[in-house]
Amino acid sequence: MPSMYDIYRRHRAEYDRLVAAEDYARHLPDCLAALADWRGKSVLEGGLGTGRVTELYVEPVRHVAGFDREAHMLEAARERLARYADKLDLRPADNLDLPLLPEQAEIFVEGWSWGHSVVDGPGSVESVADALFANVRKNLVAGGLVLLIETLGTNALAPAAPHPRLAEFYSLLQSRYGLRQAAISTDYRFPSARDAAETLGFFFGEPMAQAVLAAGSAIVPEWTGVWTGPMPA
Ligand SMILES: C[S@@+](CC[C@H](N)C(=O)[O-])C[C@H]1O[C@@H](n2cnc3c(N)ncnc32)[C@H](O)[C@@H]1O
Repeated sequence: MPSMYDIYRRHRAEYDRLVAAEDYARHLPDCLAALADWRGKSVLEGGLGTGRVTELYVEPVRHVAGFDREAHMLEAARERLARYADKLDLRPADNLDLPLLPEQAEIFVEGWSWGHSVVDGPGSVESVADALFANVRKNLVAGGLVLLIETLGTNALAPAAPHPRLAEFYSLLQSRYGLRQAAISTDYRFPSARDAAETLGFFFGEPMAQAVLAAGSAIVPEWTGVWTGPMPA
């Protein structure tokens, strides 16, 4: 079974099968529409992956500068977003090493990517978080909007950070950076419980496959946190 990072490097189609099943009740699009006025805006997105978050906001925006560590994922994003090619600038870059953009963006968004940087380190959660924000700050207009989307648990009964470093990070997002948190359900729906176990197991590993199979449902709970606010100084 490949690691998550192998999946990002080589298995974009399988990754897309997973995310296509997520948020079947479509809570995230409503949430994004309520939290930001995207019309005519210039957006910076980190860890853009195959572009499933981008697809939710791209229509009304003016420009998207999007980055991901894996060129393999960005190829899929280019295909998914081909009809918006004129307003996209998608390039490989690490969340902790973003280039300086020619034009500052008005909104920064990331989905399920900063969490990887936080869990992987290096150094304290606070130092990684400071570095993540510094990479965005240099590319965002003063007072620009920050919108972070991260996991609050897969196949869990209630929303909670699934890793101690994420718990610390989420707490800092409010106490140190002044962002507001909302928790939404973004449950998966698969054709069958077996399909759910196979697809989630491929990404999260065998223990997840077993837990999903034991639950016996084609609908698997997923919790998502969305943090927003002006870019902290
Ligand atoms: C769970 S996927 C999320 C992708 C996309 N945002 C979405 O919502 O489907 C995580 C993405 O973050 C990227 N990633 C992981 N670590 C990264 C890092 N340090 N810098 C930039 N991208 C990273 C991966 O390549 C992958 O595309």
